Amino acid sequence: MSPRPARRRVAVVGTGAIVTGGHLPALAAHADRVELVAAVDVDRSRLDAFRQSAGGDVAGYTSTGAMLDAERPDLVLIGTPPSLHREQAVAALKAGAWVLCEKPLCLSLAEYDDIAAAEEASGAYACVVFQHRYGSGAAHARELIASGELGAPLVAHCQTTWHRDAAYYAVPWRGRWATEGGGPTMGHGIHQYDLLLHLLGPWREIRAMASRLVHDTESEDVSTALVRFANGALATVVNSVLSPDEVSRVRVDCADATVELTHLYGHRNDDWTYTPARHVDPARAAAWRTPAADVPSSHTAQLGAVLDAWDAGTRPPGSGPEARGTLEFAAALYKAAFTGRPVLQGEIGPGDPFHAAMHGDHPGWAPQGRA
Ligand SMILES: NC(=O)c1ccc[n+]([C@@H]2O[C@H](COP(=O)([O-])OP(=O)(O)OC[C@H]3O[C@@H](n4cnc5c(N)ncnc54)[C@H](O)[C@@H]3O)[C@@H](O)[C@H]2O)c1
Repeated sequence: MSPRPARRRVAVVGTGAIVTGGHLPALAAHADRVELVAAVDVDRSRLDAFRQSAGGDVAGYTSTGAMLDAERPDLVLIGTPPSLHREQAVAALKAGAWVLCEKPLCLSLAEYDDIAAAEEASGAYACVVFQHRYGSGAAHARELIASGELGAPLVAHCQTTWHRDAAYYAVPWRGRWATEGGGPTMGHGIHQYDLLLHLLGPWREIRAMASRLVHDTESEDVSTALVRFANGALATVVNSVLSPDEVSRVRVDCADATVELTHLYGHRNDDWTYTPARHVDPARAAAWRTPAADVPSSHTAQLGAVLDAWDAGTRPPGSGPEARGTLEFAAALYKAAFTGRPVLQGEIGPGDPFHAAMHGDHPGWAPQGRA
């Protein structure tokens, strides 16, 4: 047996809500494989509070560049506001570190190209956090669909109906193109449609609408889309922060079964149901229900998958084409919504305004002063 690799030295950039609530427990759960050595935040009091809750000997910095120079970490976890992700991911890759960055990985496909170029130059990888791909329920459903066990996928619904109030949008980086990259399409529903893409594979065509119905934001507060997948399945996607009865749902009707996930911010096996079609033998259907393990969707599960890929010497999940694919879907949804025309997979390349920014500089949706 080959010896277990040494513990990887990890730094976090941003010590706010998601790093404290998602990444810190993940690091603790994998303490035999990783060691938190440094934390960066421009807010000293947050940084100090984080270092205290992390315990141990975690060096504190207020500059990512200074941290990278001094610590040379193996892995950088990024949990800052979205407009900082590209610059911080590129800096970490240039310093030779792998990156696990919060969603959205960056604000546009053009920014993604910068990250891909830095990956190429460094040999390190940048992954985006989409923790809902990594629970055992999602892995099981994906395997059943991909193997054809549930029959051909035909119809799907992907629903993020959440509720956010004015206080939530009072935080300056939220709801603005330049800092959040968009509204619930980029910030909230992206988790669910990322999972839909993971379950159903490549899409071909999207039609969409977006509106600002309630909040005083630059970007939308609701969007809806119709999607045709390469396998022929048709899907609806709803991304809302206006829905008092909050739920996250992904449902796929296949020829032999409906598979449905209902949760809010995370799932485990019990959140998945399989309803067989009438013609299906109950013994066959019974085998679908329960994966062997019950791994909740979580930062812990995703970090484990990244470390496994590292140990195996392979491109980690959530990086490269997977990361780009979800961003491309967001860009296409916005382009379809703002132009009122169907958008085909692959059509948004350099030179397309929706490649440079999710608002595509489209009149009425461009940042104030530019429309
Ligand atoms: N995966 C999930 O389920 C999930 C959930 C919530 C948020 N997020 C994502 O996590 C990211 C952060 O969200 P949050 O809710 O934790 O925000 P937050 O405001 O609580 O934390 C952001 C932190 O970044 C710090 N920061 C700002 N500028 C910085 C800089 N230049 N260098 C270092 N630190 C800096 C801030 O001081 C703050 O402490 C966003 O991209 C968000 O979309 C993901």
